[in-house]
Amino acid sequence: MDTPHASINVLDPKVAQQVAAGEVVDRPASVVKELVENALDAGASRIEVELGDGGTSRILVRDDGSGMSRDDANLSVLRHATSKIRNVEDIEAVTTLGFRGEALPSIASVSSFSLTTSTGEGAATKVVVEGGEAAEVSAASHPKGTTVLVDRLFYNVPARRAFLKGARAERSAIVEVVTHLAIAHPTLAFRLSEGGRDYLSLPEAGDLLERLAQILGVAKARALRKVEYESGPFGVSGYAALPSLTEGSRAHQTISVNGRFVRAENLHRGLDDAYRATVTSGRYPPVAVEITADPRRVDVNVHPTKQIVRFSEERAAREAVASAVRDAIEWRTQAAPQAPRAPERTFTQDRFSGPSRPPADYPSYAAEGRSPYTAPPARGLQEARERLSEASRPLAESFAEERERYTELPERGALPQASPEELRVIGQLAAGYILVEEPESLWVVDQHVAHERAILDKLHDSDSPATVQSLLVPEVVDLSPAEAERAAADLEELSVYGFEAEPFGPRSVRVTAVISTLADRDIAGAFKDALSAISGTEPGHRREDHILATIACHSAVKMGDKLSQPEMEALIKSWLESRLPATCPHGRTICYRIGLNEVARKLDRH
Ligand SMILES: Nc1ncnc2c1ncn2[C@@H]1O[C@H](COP(=O)(O)OP(=O)(O)OP(=O)(O)O)[C@@H](O)[C@H]1O
Ligand SMILES: [Mg+2]
Repeated sequence: MDTPHASINVLDPKVAQQVAAGEVVDRPASVVKELVENALDAGASRIEVELGDGGTSRILVRDDGSGMSRDDANLSVLRHATSKIRNVEDIEAVTTLGFRGEALPSIASVSSFSLTTSTGEGAATKVVVEGGEAAEVSAASHPKGTTVLVDRLFYNVPARRAFLKGARAERSAIVEVVTHLAIAHPTLAFRLSEGGRDYLSLPEAGDLLERLAQILGVAKARALRKVEYESGPFGVSGYAALPSLTEGSRAHQTISVNGRFVRAENLHRGLDDAYRATVTSGRYPPVAVEITADPRRVDVNVHPTKQIVRFSEERAAREAVASAVRDAIEWRTQAAPQAPRAPERTFTQDRFSGPSRPPADYPSYAAEGRSPYTAPPARGLQEARERLSEASRPLAESFAEERERYTELPERGALPQASPEELRVIGQLAAGYILVEEPESLWVVDQHVAHERAILDKLHDSDSPATVQSLLVPEVVDLSPAEAERAAADLEELSVYGFEAEPFGPRSVRVTAVISTLADRDIAGAFKDALSAISGTEPGHRREDHILATIACHSAVKMGDKLSQPEMEALIKSWLESRLPATCPHGRTICYRIGLNEVARKLDRH
């Protein structure tokens, strides 16, 4: 039988170019990204993108940058023609977004391409390339800058064209890319339109915060906190939203490295690390951060679209992002704010210290004569408050006309700003809410979630691990036969969370020790929830977070629990000292504020 024999052919250069093009441009959004990056490299101050059919039939990118001379324009569509590097050493410290001289020839090989450009002196030049054929160059008229028109992308590569999604999906990918680029370059003007409709219209912004307000809306921009961080080889700056503001995708999580917008899974995981325990999975708070690092430690050369970066110290980069964002969204300042906190705890047996130590600061909720406010405020609390009032300041000056609306603290999502000495616990409303007076305001605090937040914070605090307490009277927890069987199998893992338990008959377990915060609270409820968390989630951080949240929830006072004055005072104090007092682990609001002026208004005291 004859084996089919394939003879080797050298590819026609045009075909080779089309194949290579697939690596640089795989869909309209990557064409837009390459063309906008060229405009950025050319020093443009205004970049306009016009689409037809979501970019599938037409993409036009116009800029007011440097433009090109006739000779350069002619060269620009040739492979490996770049003005940006000359030798291999230049790659090490490249500061432009492009440097391969590959984008334009790639795009031109798979479309009807034309580029019109002018340096502002002499005649403009038009270069037309039809599906990778030889360029036709002619004189034209054009103001200083460059316009690139990409018609019928992939018309001559049907296999690629078949992979395009519908106009709407391609358009939204383009909106996302241009949004990221606009966030990475806030002081430039961007416009993205199709058929006369603007999808993005962003006049030049004074700074990043203003750009974010243009994109997210002013109300959401108010939930942003400034990120400013420096650790070893990395600097991280920008803005990150409080965990109470989340979205369903990463479309508004922009990370750039040395001025280049990138998609770097490793760094995105750093963001997730920062929001662990405060944001449920699948939700993403808006973030815009720029990482600065010595270019020699960053390799942007690892992927044809230059969107993927690699750091010589991947882990340190992720940790820097996590610490930077965490520092920004936490109220409590760390003893050494510059020192990166370990973003992850290891999943080990010894995370809780042994049973001997007495419970730390969460005694049973028995009355405790002394007012906690006579104690000096915890270290860093005052500092945290200063940061809070700093953060609650109106947005940038350029928002002057909006200013009026911000001078007052928002009703929700803010926190008391007075020092603990100035706060007074008035009492309890309906055995569920603690009323706190601050000069000028009344705060209504949900006692269960506030307490839950304070306890969870302690459970997550790796500096002072939670203690495990033996129970004087062991608690017998009744289970279904299936649960009892699972419990027997999971006893070892449960012990990591402080549950010391043993099988007790076929349908129950006997719990002999728990984390001290849980000691006189709902042990059975916490045990059962921890059990179902183990069977319902994959091992790892999510599971750990889930179980700790369960323990915190069952340890906390409930709606309906009557509290004494000292109990309320202790609760409010530890809540305000926690890292994220404004929201519960699921992003729910913990307290709201009623301004004294509002009370006066309601009573006609104008
Ligand atoms: N909008 C523009 N304005 C001015 N010059 C441009 C513009 N677009 C491209 N050029 C010039 O054309 C050259 C080729 O562009 P191209 O995008 O193909 O390569 P590159 O940007 O150098 O590298 P890369 O392939 O990594 O993007 C650039 O080096 C630049 O000199
Ligand atoms: Mg380029």
